[in-house]
Amino acid sequence: MASVTSLASTVDERIADALSAALPEAGSADPLLRRSDRADFQANGILALAKQLKGNPRELATRVVSALTAADAAAGSAGSDRTVPAVIKDIEVSGPGFLNITVTDRAIVETLAARAADSRLGVPYAEQPGTTVIDYAQPNVAKEMHVGHLRSAVIGAAMVEILEFTGEKVIRRHHIGDWGTQFGMLIQYLIEHPHELDHRTGSGAPTGADGAGADTSVDGETAMSNLNRLYKASRALFDSDEEFKARSRDRVVALQAGDEETRAFWQRFVDESKIYFYSVFDKLDMEIHDADVVGESGYNHMLEETCRILEETGVAVRSEGALCVFFEDVKGPDGNQVPLIVKKSNGGYGYAATDLSAIRDRVLSLDATTLLYVVDARQSLHFKMVFETARRAGWLNDRVHAVQLAFGTVLGKDGKPFKTREGETVRLVDLLDEAVDRATAVVREKAEKSGLSEREITENGWHVGIGAVKYADLSTSAVRDYKFDLDQMVSLNGDTSVYLQYAYARIKSILRKAGGTRPAARPELALAPAERALGLHVDEFGEVLAEVATSYEPHKLAAYLYQLASHFTTFYDQCPVLKAQTPAQVENRLFLCDLTARTLQQGLALLGIRSPERL
Ligand code: ARG
Repeated sequence: MASVTSLASTVDERIADALSAALPEAGSADPLLRRSDRADFQANGILALAKQLKGNPRELATRVVSALTAADAAAGSAGSDRTVPAVIKDIEVSGPGFLNITVTDRAIVETLAARAADSRLGVPYAEQPGTTVIDYAQPNVAKEMHVGHLRSAVIGAAMVEILEFTGEKVIRRHHIGDWGTQFGMLIQYLIEHPHELDHRTGSGAPTGADGAGADTSVDGETAMSNLNRLYKASRALFDSDEEFKARSRDRVVALQAGDEETRAFWQRFVDESKIYFYSVFDKLDMEIHDADVVGESGYNHMLEETCRILEETGVAVRSEGALCVFFEDVKGPDGNQVPLIVKKSNGGYGYAATDLSAIRDRVLSLDATTLLYVVDARQSLHFKMVFETARRAGWLNDRVHAVQLAFGTVLGKDGKPFKTREGETVRLVDLLDEAVDRATAVVREKAEKSGLSEREITENGWHVGIGAVKYADLSTSAVRDYKFDLDQMVSLNGDTSVYLQYAYARIKSILRKAGGTRPAARPELALAPAERALGLHVDEFGEVLAEVATSYEPHKLAAYLYQLASHFTTFYDQCPVLKAQTPAQVENRLFLCDLTARTLQQGLALLGIRSPERL
């Protein structure tokens, strides 16, 4: 594996060197290199520098160009076997003091050839990888998953892949909601109706992401409908029958006290829910491992100590019987501070105590350097208070920090939070099934030409449908709300995964048609404008990934891939591949096709989206 220096960073370095040669007083100023429409790159840094040095920007820019030309001449005369081939073909001052830079065609093809030779496409590992614990895909036991859980799962899974690709050690935590007073009523009901969760043999197909510990005699949908029925029935009884209510409350006490029978019943709810969760994750083409499912209950043994430490260090104080943490800037409408309650006045622990304990576990036992929470933006205040509390307690500090990757609400076509016509939460499974159905129809229609088998149509329909749902979620900035619009999602044109998948499949079909002609880089050839634009974009992949991995913005990877497919479309329109003028040009264009396909496939894989070979 060899990482490849991108043309952007080679040029950036050359200009930075020339800058400090021409203007020693500038120190190590950033040339602020950007891709440009007029040339390949534009350096904008001289403007700010001139202001700072009170010089004339155009004049400074001219001096930088001379320094660069002098350095090039020196390198050229130093001997015929120059180690650095000329990268910069042309550099000129433009506008108020920009530099326009054009690189050589040879440098583009040689850089891309180095990428093609590497299984990681020349993308370097992060210089200082750490350990990130990522909290994502956290549904709630005995409850239906909703579109919010979909977002957390999709965005979280993409961040896992992206971070791992940069060499970060990633530990996954699915903080499922598996604890709380609602279990008193559920367990009590099950005790009184003991056969409600029984599995009749032969009642369904085996499912389960990795099957670990999951009963496979019942399918996910059945499991969820059993739970739903039980939830509704116990709720109705709880609301109408005072004695049942009282028995349920006692049951909560027994559960918290660790009573064995109660605990065994609780476990049945967790197991039944996992059958359902895993079936949804399976459908989402997502791997979730049982060992990473550490729900709220996983921190029960730490709650008391967490509260004791917070109280002893004075981070938390007693207020009206509850243990609370206060913040200057968190106030209610009445102007009074609203505390984070870590222990209620009745002695119960809530969501915050669990999250604070999880932080201690992740920092102290898992050795995390970053805690990343992929959670709905509506929980931002909770995390702000929890993080600040953890900082005051010293669990978070200069070495370990926590970030919420907050995401917005999924809206219906009408722009209102996504609900059914009856105003109910939309079942995630129904949405996914519909997406797959629509995608399968699209694939089938197209397949008349490509002659896919029925089995391929079904499999591609799944990959296209699920890809469409994931891409729609990942292609807009996470904090923004987005509209769940299946028509738009499975459209062949526009910023959709379907468009990207078709671009990939089209390239694969070109490569197949090339028969015995193999892709080969031909650095001696002159490139057409569309070839240069495509090549320069391919070369940016590593920089985009590095940025996405530090800013936690997977939508920037999606945007990069969309642009990549668009550059490819233009290239394919303007540059015949198999009918190019010379055999060398055919090889070189096949080489560009192949590297584009690999980059698309790698990028889509990081987003959790498959690239079918034929569509
Ligand atoms: N189960 C929660 C929900 O459905 C999300 C959990 C988020 N993670 C956490 N550490 N609090 O809203």
